[in-house]
Amino acid sequence: MMEKHHMRDLFAQDPGRFESFSLLASDLLLDYSKNRITSETMSLLFSLAREAGIDEQKARMFNGDRINVTEDRAVLHVALRNRSNEPVYVDGNDVMPEVNRVLDKMRDFSDAVRNGQWRGYTDKPVTDVVNIGIGGSDLGPLMVTSALKAYSKPGIRVHFISNIDGAHFTDTVEGLDPETTLFIVASKTFTTKETLTNATTARQWLLDACKDNSAIARHFVALSTNSEAVQAFGIDKDNMFEFWDWVGGRYSLWSAVGLSIAIYIGMDNFEALLKGAHQMDRHFLEAPLESNMPVIMAMLGIWYINFFGATSLGVMPYDQRLKLLPVYLRQADMESNGKCSTRDGDIVDYRTGPIVWGEAGTDGQHSFYQLIQQGTHLIPCDFIVPVESQVDLPNHHKMLLANYLAQTKALMKGKTPQEVRTELEAEGKSAAQIDALLQHKVFEGNKPTNSIVMPRVTPATLGSLIALYEHKIFTQGIVWNINSFDQWGVELGKSLANTIQDSLDSDDKVTSHDSSTNGLINYFKQYF
Ligand code: F6P
Repeated sequence: MMEKHHMRDLFAQDPGRFESFSLLASDLLLDYSKNRITSETMSLLFSLAREAGIDEQKARMFNGDRINVTEDRAVLHVALRNRSNEPVYVDGNDVMPEVNRVLDKMRDFSDAVRNGQWRGYTDKPVTDVVNIGIGGSDLGPLMVTSALKAYSKPGIRVHFISNIDGAHFTDTVEGLDPETTLFIVASKTFTTKETLTNATTARQWLLDACKDNSAIARHFVALSTNSEAVQAFGIDKDNMFEFWDWVGGRYSLWSAVGLSIAIYIGMDNFEALLKGAHQMDRHFLEAPLESNMPVIMAMLGIWYINFFGATSLGVMPYDQRLKLLPVYLRQADMESNGKCSTRDGDIVDYRTGPIVWGEAGTDGQHSFYQLIQQGTHLIPCDFIVPVESQVDLPNHHKMLLANYLAQTKALMKGKTPQEVRTELEAEGKSAAQIDALLQHKVFEGNKPTNSIVMPRVTPATLGSLIALYEHKIFTQGIVWNINSFDQWGVELGKSLANTIQDSLDSDDKVTSHDSSTNGLINYFKQYF
């Protein structure tokens, strides 16, 4: 039924459409009027969310119930940013004193690094902080530090090494001085091979320079839930910042995993990030579904995925420093909702999480917007922009805003054959030329977008924005009846890599795998 409606007509019929389909929460404005919806669509979608038990399920998450059923864990990243300090219980124990103890330790340490009290093995202050981690132990701090560059302290740089490809290590430490470099090894499990291999290489890089094992204590700290493995690696437990099994890797930037953020922007700003997220948590918990921003975004996503067959979601930040937001949200969403089993272990017979991708505007416009505008896929997009830029250069920001507005308007309105004809006639084209060109210049329009606007990218607004997406992902997981908090799909490749590594190490011709894998291994081995 809605498939027949064009948004152009919906806007023409209702001059108050923006007022009806926009809301403010936690300093974020969401304009969702450029969607293929009416009030009736939304109320049906809210009924669907209600029937799926969203209110009960979000209460269970905030109450510390073990909603991650396949790993038998609570899901409490919200406790990490619970600035109200109201008790949060897991198995009858309030987790807040421990959360606050680690935050205090992060404050002491980040202050000491920032003010130069923390010294390297030759008594010099730290100039470069290198976070070694992957997935959730990398992407959050990587994205947040890049987004909040305006809040950084001059003289302290942050770097990130994640990939097992040695080029990532080599290129990152190029030009760094071991005497003034601090490594943060971030791994929830402290068993992730990429991270442990990179950390071992880093330790050797340091020891090659200082030739003194005692230097490790001045140059290595660990962020983990696994204190035994941290100590086995040779990092003193005093240099370990703890978190807990109820923090999912991709939800961990709010925990000790945020240490590189705290060092880069200062602990007060890190706490402002937590505060912004906490405000969004309260909104998600308390606002009725009809005015609940994460729920609205979740249900719009479900509308396109399950009713229009959309398979992807574009995230387009119009802010260069939010360039990594699509990369961050790609893991947050795809590792959470890329599932095909229900919470009870049945196979789903409907689509679940989308492919998430995107690029900063205006770069994306000159690269792939062609396909969004005139291609054959329906790609709902979130357009995100701050009203004010972090940098003050004349002309740039208004031009960015104009492009932001132009794209969502073009996607919504399109251009009719009649409009194209009138334009071509005005240009003096002949009838034959118009016939040849007309269809190429028509834009169907009716392409859905959400506009998300914040006053400025600050620690607080960024915290709210990330929490908005986290709760959106949670809500969709509830409606799809999947567990958004496990990630079994990454295990098979990891365990096969171990056996394949053995095959690569052996001197003999390999025959134990399928013929493609055997063929490739034996081809590689010719060059070893
Ligand atoms: O392989 C996927 C994953 O488990 C992610 O969920 C996680 O963020 C990443 O690996 C890193 O894990 P860890 O922090 O335990 O090293």
